This record gives sequence, structure tokens and C-alpha cells, in this order.
Amino acid sequence: MNEGSRVALVTGATRGIGRAIARRLHADGFEVVISGHTVDSTRRAVEEFDKEGLRISGRAADARREDDQKALVEFAGSKRGRLDVLVNNAGIGEFGPVDRLDPERFRDVLETNLFGPFYAIRAAAPLMKKNGGGFIVNIASLASVNAFAGGAAYNASKFGLLGLSEASMLDLRHDGIRVAAVLPGSVATEFDGHDDRRESSWMLSADDVAEAVSDLVRFPDRAIPSRIDLRPSRPPKK
Ligand SMILES: NC(=O)c1ccc[n+]([C@@H]2O[C@H](COP(=O)([O-])OP(=O)(O)OC[C@H]3O[C@@H](n4cnc5c(N)ncnc54)[C@H](OP(=O)(O)O)[C@@H]3O)[C@@H](O)[C@H]2O)c1
Repeated sequence: MNEGSRVALVTGATRGIGRAIARRLHADGFEVVISGHTVDSTRRAVEEFDKEGLRISGRAADARREDDQKALVEFAGSKRGRLDVLVNNAGIGEFGPVDRLDPERFRDVLETNLFGPFYAIRAAAPLMKKNGGGFIVNIASLASVNAFAGGAAYNASKFGLLGLSEASMLDLRHDGIRVAAVLPGSVATEFDGHDDRRESSWMLSADDVAEAVSDLVRFPDRAIPSRIDLRPSRPPKK
């Protein structure tokens, strides 16, 4: 396949991990399309990429809305009539004891972190099948396998995302579509759950996650590394 003709879509790439993944896939030779939650945040991100000399296009798409996710995948597919890589990265956090969680916020977290990837996978699979395959990477979390107090909404969404990822992998591999989940520990970003006062030098960087995604999509296509746990090597000793 001609390297320059491959298209990658990264959701929630206006900042943080998604932004690092978009940059990295662009450096790897992909035509990259990003999404953000709002028209403003998406336009700002595209302009910032442009200032860095990176031609990356974007479209606002609310992960919670199936029609938005479908239109986003169609937009990416229209670039070159194909979609090779989908990275489901958009996500939010909401933390607090289960008996004090606002049901609307609980719904928001589930709809963004779990339904969003489902809608995107549903829209992307036919396009990928048409072109003989593709790679879907879901940015899950170590919170996909480790519950913690105050994590009812986030854990529920990320445990669910890992289940979605693994079942989708089993469904789609027969069509040449590989699906993997990346489970990072704490990453230094502006993520909702982060306490700004916390020492962050030991944390993973967004570039570490981008490196994992880049490695995944270049992996020889006989095999599927379907889950990568990504841990900081020197966290504070407990
Ligand atoms: N940071 C960590 O420690 C960590 C660890 C493990 C996993 N993760 C996961 O990694 C992913 C990215 O996290 P991050 O730390 O980079 O977060 P971040 O800096 O808060 O960025 C979140 C991104 O998601 C987008 N987004 C939020 N709600 C959206 C919606 N409804 N529709 C579309 N886009 C939406 C935001 O777009 P706008 O700018 O337009 O709002 C932004 O681009 C998340 O799935 C998170 O759960 C993070």
C-alpha cells in the first residue's frame, strides 16, 4: 500500500493524548483527520497544527451522538475513499462516590467513553471492510481493569470499552480489521480527573501513548497485539 495514501482518524485530538497521536501518525505518513467536541476547539486545533506545518483536517463531532460519529467517519473516508486507522480517544472523567454521582453526568461519561467508540466502530467497519481491512485502536485505561473508590462512572465506561474492544476484535478480524485497546496509567494532560497540584514528572507523557499507537498500527498483519498495558516506570513508591 502506498504510505502516503493511508488515512487515520483520531477522535478527541484537540489536546492531550489525541493530539500527540495525531502528530505521530502524521509523522508516520498518514493523512490525519481529527475531531473535537466543539467547532471552536476543533478549528483552533487545526490552526495550531497548521502553524507547526502539519496539514491535518478536522471536524467537530460529539462522541455521544451517533449521527455526528457517522458524519465524522464519512468525512475522513471522503479524503481518499478509504479509512485505514481509527483511534477512539475522546473521553471524559467524572469522579465521586457512587451514591453522590449525578445520573446525568454518569450518562455523559458512558455515552462519551463507551457509546462514542461503538458508534465510530459501527460506522468505520463497512468502510474498512470495503478496502480489505484496517486498524481500530481504543484508548482505554488501567481503569479498564482496576476499579477504585470514586471511579464508578469512569470505571464502568472503561471496563465497558475494554469489553467492546475485545469483542469487536473477535468479530472483525475475519474481515482484516484488527482491534486493540491501549490501557495507559496516569498521563500528564489536562484530563478532568487530574489534580493540578499533583507532582507529574513520573507520569506517562501523551507521546508515550502515541508511540504505542504508532507501534500497533505498524505491527505485521499476521498478529494482533490486542491489548497494551502502559505503565509509568517510576511511580512514587507506596
Ligand atoms: N490522562 C490520563 O491520565 C489518561 C489515562 C488513561 C486513559 N486516558 C484516556 O485517554 C483519552 C484522552 O485523555 P486526555 O488525558 O488526553 O484528555 P483531555 O486532555 O481532557 O482531552 C480530551 C479530548 O476529548 C475530547 N472530547 C471530550 N468530550 C468529547 C465529546 N463529547 N465528543 C468529542 N470529543 C470529546 C476533547 O475535545 P474538546 O477539546 O473539544 O473538549 C479533547 O480533545 C481519554 O479517553 C481518557 O479516558 C487518559
